[in-house]
Order: sequence, then structure tokens, then C-alpha cells
Amino acid sequence: MKERIVLQLKESCHWQDSLLWFDSIDSTNTRARELAAKGAPHGTVLIADHQTGGRGRRGRSFHSPSGSGIYMSVILRPNCLPAELMHLTCAAAVAMCDAVENSCGIRPGIKWTNDLVYGKRKLAGILTELGLSPKGTVDFAIIGIGINCCQEETDFPEDIRSIAGSLQSVTGHPICREQVAAAMMDAMHRMDKNLLTGKDGILRRYRADCVTLGKEVSVVKADGQIRHGTALDIDAEGALIVQFAHGTETVNSGEVSVRGMYGYV
Ligand code: BTN
Repeated sequence: MKERIVLQLKESCHWQDSLLWFDSIDSTNTRARELAAKGAPHGTVLIADHQTGGRGRRGRSFHSPSGSGIYMSVILRPNCLPAELMHLTCAAAVAMCDAVENSCGIRPGIKWTNDLVYGKRKLAGILTELGLSPKGTVDFAIIGIGINCCQEETDFPEDIRSIAGSLQSVTGHPICREQVAAAMMDAMHRMDKNLLTGKDGILRRYRADCVTLGKEVSVVKADGQIRHGTALDIDAEGALIVQFAHGTETVNSGEVSVRGMYGYV
């Protein structure tokens, strides 16, 4: 599998030297953190066929069966402060839309902040994590992406069956996972080249792909309170600007769901 991925790479050729393939692993993000803490270089890529403990945001698990998806983590070592990477998840999401478009011929939308969707189905999720140096600068950033490639509807566990989709189920044609994985590496490599200098352009592209904008949303705060509003815009750091009855607010965290799409409360 690793050799077949490398053969399809177009741009990220030198990352292939630090490409690690796993038939099965607990979580590529967890392993990437361990490797980064031990000094793994910028551009180290971990790809697994199967994860036993795939992690999503907010402590959720990410269903990661064998032979069905691509589970990838990339270690980056940008020389910057954490505040300069607020747009990292947005940048990764746009890059993953590019990867899907280049390898499968469809462009997914992005449900703020980190879900790739097609129609009402979630195709992929992104989990970004930072490691800081004692000085408070970024020691490493881990970008983890899990993308459903070949599943049929009945392959998903019942609790996510009505909301999850795969590249194969939405395109209606067979998917070559090696091609998708190579396109993901290439897109991530391109993203890395202008991550710190091209923030405005990245966020312009994010807004164009973001299906949340203009929609009614519900925002669940940490204390469980739910508020309804309309998603107006993405700010210069990738946060969501929401119009509530009493005024406009910027939402950085908390659960945001989109009316008419999965998870709306
Ligand atoms: C989410 O949907 O909340 C984010 C899911 C991120 C899943 C990917 S799969 C590769 C990497 N390893 C993990 O354990 N998680 C990410």
C-alpha cells in the first residue's frame, strides 16, 4: 500500500522519506504526538488502514475500520506562536477539499470548522493538535484526517448511518484509496508552503467552501445552553461570526450545528 501511495505522489515527494504506514494502530494522531515529542521531522506522515482508538473532537471516537478509509496524521513544525495558527484547521479543510476534488472529481463542502460534507453526509473529519515548547512557541502541530472512502451505508454503525457518507457512496463509483491518500499528502504539502504567509487567501477559499454560512445554526455552550442564530461570516482567524437576536458574536469553540444538517439541536 505504501509503495502504491508513493507512486501516485505528484508534489510531496520528499515527504515520502518519512512516510510511515500502519496496518493497524490505536490512533495516528496519538502516535504522531509521541513521535513529534521524540523529534520526528517536519513533514512526517503517518497513514493507517485501521485505527482501534481513532479520536475525534470533543473526546469522541472516530470509526476507523480496515479497508474502508484513510486515516492520516501529518507532523508540521512551523516556527511560530500558537496565535499564528488559529486558521490551521480551516487551512487543512480547504486542502482536503482540494485532495478530494483532484482524486475523485467532486468538491465537498465544509461544515464549520472541521467536517467535510457532501449533501447532508459527513465524509471526513479533521483533528488538529498543537505541542508547545517551554517558551510557549509551537514545537509541533499535528493535523489528523479521517476520510471515509469505500463504505456502503450499511457498513457504518447504526448511530451514524443516517449522517455518514463515503467518497464511493456519494460519487457512485469505486474509489482508489492510494490515489486519495497521495492527493491528501500533495494537498497538505501545498498547504504547508503558504500556511503562515497566505492566511487571507486560505480563509477566502474556506468561506467559499463553507456550507455553514448563511444558514440557521445552533450554538451549544460549555454549560449546555443552546442558542439559535444565523451564521454570517468567518473572521480573519477562522472563527464563526453568528447573528443572534441580541447582536453579533464570534464563536471560537462550542458545538455549532446547522439547521437541516446532521446534529442540529
Ligand atoms: C472529528 O470528526 O471530530 C475529527 C476526526 C479526526 C479523525 C482522524 S483519523 C486520523 C487521525 N487520528 C485520529 O485518532 N484522529 C484523526
